Amino acid sequence: MGKFHLRRIWTIALTTATLGIAAHAAAAGDPVAGKTAYGACMACHSIDDNDVGPAHRGVVGRKAGTVPGFNYSIALKNSGIVWTPEMIDRWLQGPQNLVPGTKMFFALGDAKTRADIIAYLATQK
Ligand code: HEC
Repeated sequence: MGKFHLRRIWTIALTTATLGIAAHAAAAGDPVAGKTAYGACMACHSIDDNDVGPAHRGVVGRKAGTVPGFNYSIALKNSGIVWTPEMIDRWLQGPQNLVPGTKMFFALGDAKTRADIIAYLATQK
């Protein structure tokens, strides 16, 4: 094994370690715990059906107010929001603060629970 080859292996090992840290930081929420915690949302939402609130499948990364057949508030429809994990986190801290005039009246104070639910929603593509 030449010197060059060794250096290559070392580089790959370093890269893998760096990626590992990045993946860990992004995965702050626990999707398994989030699935249970999502029960609180199910008073009004489900993954696949419109109910009091719009269906959630694919919500992470989607533009707000765009599920077909759901009767959104004008405020949310015109918000221009894209549901990144960060935006959903802000939304869940107080929908009325983020989008005055929305008709979602529910907030979650616990940051860990929000992160878990967002991680769960991200798996429901
Ligand atoms: C009391 C009923 C209720 C509860 C509980 C509720 N929501 Fe909602 N949600 C709504 C309604 C109604 C809307 C539509 C708001 C509008 O049109 O202004 C909505 C909209 C949303 C949207 C925007 C979706 C889109 O298509 O733009 C997200 C994201 C969302 N809710 C997440 C959640 C999560 C996550 C939970 C649980 C932590 C939750 N909601 C709990 C009623 C609720």
